[in-house]
Amino acid sequence: MGLRMSFLMFLSLVSFAPLCFSQRGSNGNLYPQFYDHSCPKAQEIVKSVVKNAVAKETRMAASLLRLHFHDCFVKGCDASLLLDNSGNIVSEKQSNPNKNSVRGFEVIDAIKTALEKECPNTVSCSDILAIAARDSTVLAGGPNWEVPLGRRDAMDASISGSNNNIPAQTNTFQTILTKFKLQKLNIVDMVTLSGSHTIGNARCISFRQRLYNQSGNGQPDTSLEQSYAAQLRTRCPRSGGDQNLFPLDLVSPTKFDNSYFKNILASKVLLSSDQILLTKNEDSMDLVKKYAGNNELFFDQFAKSIIKMGNVAPLTGSKGEVRKNCRRINN
Ligand code: HEM
Ligand SMILES: *[C@@H]1O[C@H](CO)[C@@H](O)[C@H](O)[C@H]1NC(C)=O
Repeated sequence: MGLRMSFLMFLSLVSFAPLCFSQRGSNGNLYPQFYDHSCPKAQEIVKSVVKNAVAKETRMAASLLRLHFHDCFVKGCDASLLLDNSGNIVSEKQSNPNKNSVRGFEVIDAIKTALEKECPNTVSCSDILAIAARDSTVLAGGPNWEVPLGRRDAMDASISGSNNNIPAQTNTFQTILTKFKLQKLNIVDMVTLSGSHTIGNARCISFRQRLYNQSGNGQPDTSLEQSYAAQLRTRCPRSGGDQNLFPLDLVSPTKFDNSYFKNILASKVLLSSDQILLTKNEDSMDLVKKYAGNNELFFDQFAKSIIKMGNVAPLTGSKGEVRKNCRRINN
């Protein structure tokens, strides 16, 4: 090996050393330029497939954003959510928060197929989820951000993690906050990221209890505006219609904006977990009010919080693998 070569290697060792050590920090060592040389068109390809999918069905933006969340809260952002049943793997798709609810897997498949064609074995499924979440947010009119990249894909799934770590809409404020803190996310992240409910739908079964018998006394939730509740009851009866869909943001159901926070102030949100951001904690109440009055503040913090969520326990370096098919581990 020539002297010049070894000097260059020495230099690159020195310059990568800080990156290696920063892996101990909360950022992992993800960075936006990760595919700049190995797959320069990666982000462009993801964007174009997402764009087509959202043009076909507006709701897909919401569904893709949610996939990133349900991935990151279970053993980190490692695409464990995307694995189907096979061998030892019990798919997270069957968990309580996911079954009959999470969607968009065909779009992720289409992105992966396009990327494997362009640069085989290079772009991880977990990074696809992170980029698709950003593109979906932008397409819906929300904030833009640079997505840190370099995640690798898990070789197993955790259905118990999926059941236990992903907050449920019936959880108390404290339980939901605890579940965010388990991911090293704080109350600001919790309120801000809940703002994702400015787009997308919920099923009748996810909020029926609030319409008829919230606390076991046969009465609707008192923190749900009465005429709105009456309107919801027409398509969400006491029994039946479990899968009927309702917009999470009744004012601008497909636009990513701060109207979700205004709706909370008006007691016109579907989920108990949305309304309690106003009623159970002062810090969170302050934030709801601030975001309701200042869209830019919401957007700026949303970008920060979702990058933070995307940095939860990524597999990097030689950990995990880059799956060829997001639904199964490589042979
Ligand atoms: C704070 C705790 C949270 C709870 C309890 C919660 C719960 C839920 C529930 C129950 C639904 C409706 C599911 C259905 O009826 O099928 C839903 C939908 C959704 N959630 Fe959350 N969520 C939370 C936080 C988040 C976060 C952090 C994000 C994104 C970063 C997010 C993004 C979404 C989106 C976009 C939808 C609509 C999906 C679609 O239309 O396909 N949620 N959530
Ligand atoms: C409301 O729920 C409680 C406890 O789950 C139950 O005992 C009661 O019968 C329910 N009331 C109605 C009117 O459904």
